[in-house]
Amino acid sequence: MIALGIESTAHTFGVGIVDEEGNILANVYDTYRSETGGMRPFDVAEHHSKVAVEVIREALREAGVTLDEISVIGFSRGPGIGQPLQIGAVVARSLAITAKKPLVGVNHPLAHVEIGRKVAKSYDPVALYVSGGNTQVITHSGDRYVVLGETLDIGIGNAQEKLGREVGLPFPAGPHLDRIRGSWVPLPYVVKGMDLSFSGLVTEAVRRIKKGEGVEDVLWSFMEVAFSMLIEVAERALAMTDKKELLLVGGVAASPRLKEKAEIMCRERGATLKTVPPKLARDNGAMIAWTSILAYKVFGADRPERTHVLPDWRIDDIRWPLLEV
Ligand code: ATP
Ligand code: FE2
Repeated sequence: MIALGIESTAHTFGVGIVDEEGNILANVYDTYRSETGGMRPFDVAEHHSKVAVEVIREALREAGVTLDEISVIGFSRGPGIGQPLQIGAVVARSLAITAKKPLVGVNHPLAHVEIGRKVAKSYDPVALYVSGGNTQVITHSGDRYVVLGETLDIGIGNAQEKLGREVGLPFPAGPHLDRIRGSWVPLPYVVKGMDLSFSGLVTEAVRRIKKGEGVEDVLWSFMEVAFSMLIEVAERALAMTDKKELLLVGGVAASPRLKEKAEIMCRERGATLKTVPPKLARDNGAMIAWTSILAYKVFGADRPERTHVLPDWRIDDIRWPLLEV
């Protein structure tokens, strides 16, 4: 079985091709960029519709397969931004109907976790999913994945981007912020139980910069506070569940500093840190292809006319077994 998966929840239009063993035959993407770093849903959707055909062709070329040899078409059904999601869904439905292939709508956070478990060989981890729009601590419990903690406002990546825009850093600001070093400036550290909040942290960082405090000091302190908040919640999740592995997924998981902090925390409590290469940690089509194979085996195909996109779909809405890796 070979699956072609389409990702289009936000700025990335990605197409991945993956076989039943989890071998990644292709993972191609084209990411929307704007001058300001902001995203208007219409512009993102227009970008995706322009690049879709070429990204699909390129993925088939890279994998060395024809559309005929594909057994399943998967696509990101949500959560995400409505208009770009629609483009991926329409492209996937058209492919599935014309090529007469089964169609499977995939939950995007579930795909991040499943490709992470597969590639990092992590059977039953606590997953820290850190990206632009999402920040969640996820683990398997009973008949599904549950969210143990999450952001109460914006995702860690979007917090980085907001602050980055204020100081004129190019998009994406995350990798730039991650390399800055400075001296400590006190900033609000907001963890409420298992949940986190980043917007007050951004506001206070911006206020201090406007007041004339050292930009590098504020930016470095911002990253330290934000990452420490994430690590605190991840550690409490490990303690609560008594699980032994922490799996980092999402675009922000590419951060060497976040990995370093996670590594120290895991070592101190006898747990193991599991990571995946950035190309598979960020938004990509390969994770959708792989999860569509799993979903096809667990639930079978979706009827194309019943595959409207679900912009608010949560990972804990789905019954899902803990599968072998
Ligand atoms: P989602 O749709 O899941 O919310 P997304 O559209 O934000 O995801 P991702 O590719 O998962 O896309 O994540 C992008 C974020 O990752 C950006 O905010 C970017 O700045 C951040 N990022 C990438 N590399 C690093 C790094 N080295 N350090 C910190 N942040 C990083
Ligand atoms: Fe994502």
